[in-house]
Amino acid sequence: MTKLIATPLSDLMGAEITEFDCREPVDAKTRDAIIEALYRHQILVFREQDLTPEQQIAFSEAFGPLEMHVNQANQGYERPNFHVVTNLDDNGVPMPDPPPEKIFNGTRTWHSDKSYMPRPSMATFLYGVAVTKEGGETLFASLTAAYDALDEDEKIRLGGLKCVHSWEQSLRNSRSRPVTEEERQLSPPVTHPLIRTHPGDGRKALYIGMHASHIAGADEESGRAQLFALLDFATQARFVYAHQWQKGDLVVWDNPSLVHKSAPFDRQKERRHLHRTVVRGDIPV
Ligand SMILES: [Fe+2]
Repeated sequence: MTKLIATPLSDLMGAEITEFDCREPVDAKTRDAIIEALYRHQILVFREQDLTPEQQIAFSEAFGPLEMHVNQANQGYERPNFHVVTNLDDNGVPMPDPPPEKIFNGTRTWHSDKSYMPRPSMATFLYGVAVTKEGGETLFASLTAAYDALDEDEKIRLGGLKCVHSWEQSLRNSRSRPVTEEERQLSPPVTHPLIRTHPGDGRKALYIGMHASHIAGADEESGRAQLFALLDFATQARFVYAHQWQKGDLVVWDNPSLVHKSAPFDRQKERRHLHRTVVRGDIPV
């Protein structure tokens, strides 16, 4: 078994793992130790990695099947389970901002990956190939810490509610481009519990974020206002950890227990290029 030493990065959540090579095959004991650390710390940062896309895919796949692009089919992508998050063109030069009809702000607003799908993401793996000097942090807010901070009556009240998540509404919530007809077909609204029980360790969390549209069975507008108020509560500074990227970081986070977003940065000056793989999760309960 490869030794795993997780050193906390804050009092709230996050731990860094040094002297660990993610290129090595992951045996069952190592995998279990990583999963246990991930559940405990919610975010793991494997420092000083040097990974090809194939090596990142192999490491991620040790934790479950990976999500594919959009409709789970290979639409001609060379690697359908591998995504690039970048502000750079093919020559490594920052690209100009997209025109308004293509603007997507979703990654800059608080969300839990793919919560608008019937089986949202379990763990996201983001690897820093080029990282910003200033800004561009990935911010995480603990939905378990926020849940724990609710008063008991509120926990009981919210525990009886279900929440509709919708990609179409998410684009509206983040003031992004309109939904396409294809996206509407592929991602109809889904309903999840508002209080989610973690599939791995049973902790309870608010299950909210920008993909959350309204409370099932209630007036949409007032339900949406309630959800935004809960998101404001859950993303107060006391529940937030900001990850300042170092080149070679492989950051892994536990989607059921947190929301995340990227902080602004100078997109014309800075170079930010990240490789992303995602392990598919369970149906939320
Ligand atoms: Fe995300």
